[in-house]
Amino acid sequence: MATGRWQAGVKLVALGLAAALLLAGLDQLTRERIADQQQRRALATLTELLPPGSFDNNLVDDHIDLDLAGFEQPARVYRARAAGAPVAVIFDLVTGRGYSGDIRMLVAADPQGRVLGVRVLEHRETPGLGDRIEIERSDWIRQFTGTRLGEPAEERWATSRRGGDFDGLTSATITAEAVVQAVRAALETLDQTDQQRLWQPETGSG
Ligand SMILES: Cc1cc2nc3c(=O)[nH]c(=O)nc-3n(C[C@H](O)[C@H](O)[C@H](O)COP(=O)(O)O)c2cc1C
Repeated sequence: MATGRWQAGVKLVALGLAAALLLAGLDQLTRERIADQQQRRALATLTELLPPGSFDNNLVDDHIDLDLAGFEQPARVYRARAAGAPVAVIFDLVTGRGYSGDIRMLVAADPQGRVLGVRVLEHRETPGLGDRIEIERSDWIRQFTGTRLGEPAEERWATSRRGGDFDGLTSATITAEAVVQAVRAALETLDQTDQQRLWQPETGSG
């Protein structure tokens, strides 16, 4: 009798362990799927920023991580090439200066540092206020295309509300300013990074 109860106990514990393992596995799988989907969405947006047919490499596999001065996380920088020659870089970066926290965005620039386009991928800004940084909500984000360091002049890289050349967003100056400063930071990093290092093919799996 005592042995029977003991065996039943062992079975229960084993069952519990198996269930826990199964759940942990499923959880991990779900996380990986979500990360995968996010990555795929990011890459779809990424290619949207580049002229069609302008590059022939696989962007997913061609990137380096670069630190952005004053930012917590390094940016992942995808590199577009045509027959091996530099075509564009796309910064996938997160600024923590949004009104409601992190804003993840893509900043594409040509090798001379001119902006090809900017898109916001993820944010938690207020609907109707800060969310106008999304291209689906307004054209505000398009104003960066064609800019570069010096155009506008350095001291005018700010929203009009803060004395700069960029349009702000009414009642969402914090959000708008966060995006302006993130674009500027990407361009500054691009400007300060050694070209050879920037375009060097990856050696690790990264
Ligand atoms: C409910 C609520 C939501 C807000 N959402 C945002 C936002 O998404 N982005 C932002 O910059 N400021 C947001 N604000 C802050 C104010 O609008 C703040 O006054 C503004 O950032 C200052 O910008 P302004 O100079 O254009 O008025 C929010 C304020 C409140 C009360």
